[in-house]
Amino acid sequence: MDRLAIEMLPPNAQHILESLNTAVVIFDKALRLSSINPAAEMMFKISANQMLGEDLSRLLSDSETLAASLRNTLDSGHPFTARNVLLTLVGGDHITVDCTVTPLGYARDNYGLLVELTRIDRRLRMAREETMLGQQVANRAMLRGLAHEIKNPLGGLRGAAQLLERELKDRSQTEYTRIIIHEADRLHNLVDRMMGSNQPLKKEPFSIHRILEHIAKLIAAEFPPTINLIRDYDPSAPDIIGDSEQLTQAFLNVARNSAQALEDRGEIKFRTRIERKFTIGKTCHRLIIRTDIIDNGPGINEELIDKIFYPMVTGKAEGVGLGLSIAQDIVQNHGGLIACRNQKSHTIFTLYLPVGD
Ligand SMILES: Nc1ncnc2c1ncn2[C@@H]1O[C@H](COP(=O)(O)OP(=O)(O)OP(=O)(O)O)[C@@H](O)[C@H]1O
Ligand SMILES: [Mg+2]
Repeated sequence: MDRLAIEMLPPNAQHILESLNTAVVIFDKALRLSSINPAAEMMFKISANQMLGEDLSRLLSDSETLAASLRNTLDSGHPFTARNVLLTLVGGDHITVDCTVTPLGYARDNYGLLVELTRIDRRLRMAREETMLGQQVANRAMLRGLAHEIKNPLGGLRGAAQLLERELKDRSQTEYTRIIIHEADRLHNLVDRMMGSNQPLKKEPFSIHRILEHIAKLIAAEFPPTINLIRDYDPSAPDIIGDSEQLTQAFLNVARNSAQALEDRGEIKFRTRIERKFTIGKTCHRLIIRTDIIDNGPGINEELIDKIFYPMVTGKAEGVGLGLSIAQDIVQNHGGLIACRNQKSHTIFTLYLPVGD
């Protein structure tokens, strides 16, 4: 049998295959697609009508490694399971799957391969995010303790310098007490900024696109016109309930980093999408708005990428390293999360915000 379409299976088997949540594809000996169930059509974002009989390379743009493993299985007749396999779809999207390949046939006389794929990106993402949220909470607790320990003696230092200033006979020496007072104030402000805003959230409904348009104006005013701003908005995105001022700050911190990374030339895209039944930390939200801020700059330094949401982590000579930690704090106070990744020639910061049920 060279070609095995779902329609050729007994009706029972056909029905089972079509009802499976697991993506199942069947390839013939030449690694052409013989059969694909609806779950796999969704995963690969293709329709069976267009793709049956096509080569594996038409499903994936980086099919060589998988093709080599599939050929091995055809030759050896031994099934295999691979975990955490990163696949690139022809449209450019990346997916991570666990993959089990079973030869169809007898001994070495195989007529095809049955490939089962389970998508695990969400599971991986959730595990990563849970770790990140946990670390962020631990960090904040540590910072609060540290801030307390720094601000108390600083207050003492500043007060003592003021007293000393009053006692000074030689007025020219006030230059030194001024320096103490100024530096104490600077440190005090830095600690406050590290702690993020302690203002209660002023909640009101607002459109995410209003915020993005405001930020687009600020970026256009601050950076040269050779930085091109592109909008890709989902007009059906509902209003968010939150503190629009604080969230503007969070979005601006992210967008400003993108503009800085571009060094005067390049593209920033604001993309909004809605996602249903989306889990952030331990809460499953009915509806969230996902905003991607995408630039085509050099990408995030791989050595920094796991730490950039921590305060005082910077890759810039003049950077303080507070922008992203403040942004993450604000978004998390709204029940959301910021994630980031380098993807080919793009850097993507994604801000997830629950709409509120
Ligand atoms: N779009 C981006 N492309 C490449 N690297 C980025 C991008 N956004 C952030 N980064 C990296 O993350 C680091 C941390 O960013 P963050 O905004 O927290 O601090 P900063 O920009 O260095 O300083 P600050 O925002 O306090 O002025 C940056 O220094 C940079 O190395
Ligand atoms: Mg910054």
